[in-house]
Amino acid sequence: MAKKSTAQATWGGRFSEGPAELMLRFSESVSFDKRLAPYDIQGSKAQAAMLAHVGIITAKERDAIHKGLDAIFAEINAGKFTWDIALEDVHMNIEQALKKRVPAAAKLHTARSRNDQVATDMRLFFKDAAIRIQETLTELLRVLVDVAGQNQKIYIPGYTHLQRAQPVSVAHHLLAYVEMFGRDRERFAAFAERANWCPLGSGAIAGTTLPIDREFSAKYLGFVDAKGRPQVTPNSMDAVADRDLFIEFASACALCGVHFSRVAEDMILWSSSEFGFAVMPDNFTTGSSLMPQKKNPDSLEILRGKAARLQGNLTTLFTLVKGLPLTYNRDLQDDKPPVFDSCDTVIISLEVLRETLQDMKVNAARCAAAVADPLLLATDLADYLVRKGVPFRDAHHAVGGVVALAEKQGVPLNKLTLEQVRGVDKNFGSDWVEVFDLPTAMRSRERPGMPGPKQVTSQIARWKKLLK
Ligand code: ARG
Repeated sequence: MAKKSTAQATWGGRFSEGPAELMLRFSESVSFDKRLAPYDIQGSKAQAAMLAHVGIITAKERDAIHKGLDAIFAEINAGKFTWDIALEDVHMNIEQALKKRVPAAAKLHTARSRNDQVATDMRLFFKDAAIRIQETLTELLRVLVDVAGQNQKIYIPGYTHLQRAQPVSVAHHLLAYVEMFGRDRERFAAFAERANWCPLGSGAIAGTTLPIDREFSAKYLGFVDAKGRPQVTPNSMDAVADRDLFIEFASACALCGVHFSRVAEDMILWSSSEFGFAVMPDNFTTGSSLMPQKKNPDSLEILRGKAARLQGNLTTLFTLVKGLPLTYNRDLQDDKPPVFDSCDTVIISLEVLRETLQDMKVNAARCAAAVADPLLLATDLADYLVRKGVPFRDAHHAVGGVVALAEKQGVPLNKLTLEQVRGVDKNFGSDWVEVFDLPTAMRSRERPGMPGPKQVTSQIARWKKLLK
C-alpha cells in the first residue's frame, strides 16, 4: 500500500485524502522550478498591485503582501527558505509561506491560476536569459575579433571537404565564426521581443469574471513596447498552452551550439600535429594518465559534446508539446529542466570557448609551410587563362591538365617549365608563375566579403564598432 499524506493545502477541498508519498516525489517540480522564485515573487507583487488598483484588495492588504513577499525573497536568497515537495512547485511553496506571515495572502490568487502564473514567470526568465546570453556572446565576439585582428597577415589553406582549397587569412577564417555568433546574438534579441508579452490574467484557460486590469500588470512587470505601452497576450488559451518560446529558446541555444562545436572541431584539427596551426593554452587542455607526451584539447571536445546536449534539449521540448490537446496539461511542467539546462550550458560553453581562444597561440611557421602549397592557387591559374580570353570551363580543364602533369613529373605545380605548361595550353605566357605569389593572390580578392587584406581589415573595423 502506498503511504498516504494529509490533504493538499491549496486544492485539497474535494479530496478525502492527500497524494501518496510516492506521487509527491514523482510529481513535484519544486526541486527545479525553485529557480523561478525571483520571477514568481515579481509576478505576485504585480498581481497584488493590480488587485489593489482595481479595488479587489485594499492598499493595506497589498502592502502587507508586498512586505511578506520581500521577506520571503530575502529568506530564499539567504538559503534559509525550506522548500517542501508536498507543496509541489515554486508557486505553492511561496504562496503557503506568505499565508503563514500575512492573512491577506489568501486573496493573492484571486483571478489567477498557476497556468498563467508559470507562463508569466517563464517569460520573465526568458527575457533575463536572453540578455545574459547576448552579453556572453558579445564578450566572445570581442575576443574573436581581437584574435582575428592579430592574425590578419597569417595565411592558411582554407578547406572544402577537408581538402586544401584556397588560401585565406586566419583572420578571415575566424571572422566567419564572428558572423555566425553575430547572428546568434540577433536571434536572442528577436526572441526577447517575442517573450515580451504578458500572459498574466489569462487565468487557467478562460480569464476571469473579476474586473482585472491586465495592462496594469503588464506595465508593472515591464512587458512594454519601446514607447512604454503595455503588451498583453491576445488569447487566453494560447497564453497558457503554447510553449513556442521554450522551443525557440532551445533552438537558438542548439544552433549556437552547432556554431561553437564547429569552431571547436576546427581548433582540434589546428592543434593536431598533422595541422599544427595553433597551440591551445595549457589551462584549457589536459594530459593523459598514461602517455606523458599528450596534451589533449579537452575543452574543445567537451564543447562538441555540449552541443549534442543542446540538441537533445530541443528534441525533448518538441516531443513534449507535439501531441498535447489545448490547453495546459501537466506534462508541461517538464518543459523547464531542458530550458534551464540549455541556458546554463550555452553560457558556460561560450565562456570556455572565449577563454580557450583568447590564449591560443597561432604557429606562424606551420601556417606558412601549409599555405606555400602552390596547388592552393590552381584556381587563380584558371582565372589567369580567363583573363587571356579562355572560357572558364576550358581554362579549368587546361589547369587540370597542368596539375596532372606536375603530379606525373613529381614537381610542385609552379616548378613546371613554360614549355611544359604551353604544351597543355598555348595561352600560358612567361608571366604564368606570377600567379603563385601569395600576397598578389590575396590582394586580388578585394571585393565585398572576400579574404583580401583590405576587406578583412574593414570587417574587423566594422565589428569593433558594432561591439563597442
Ligand atoms: N508547476 C506547474 C508547471 O510548471 C505549474 C502549473 C500547474 N498547473 C496545474 N494545473 N497543475 O506546469
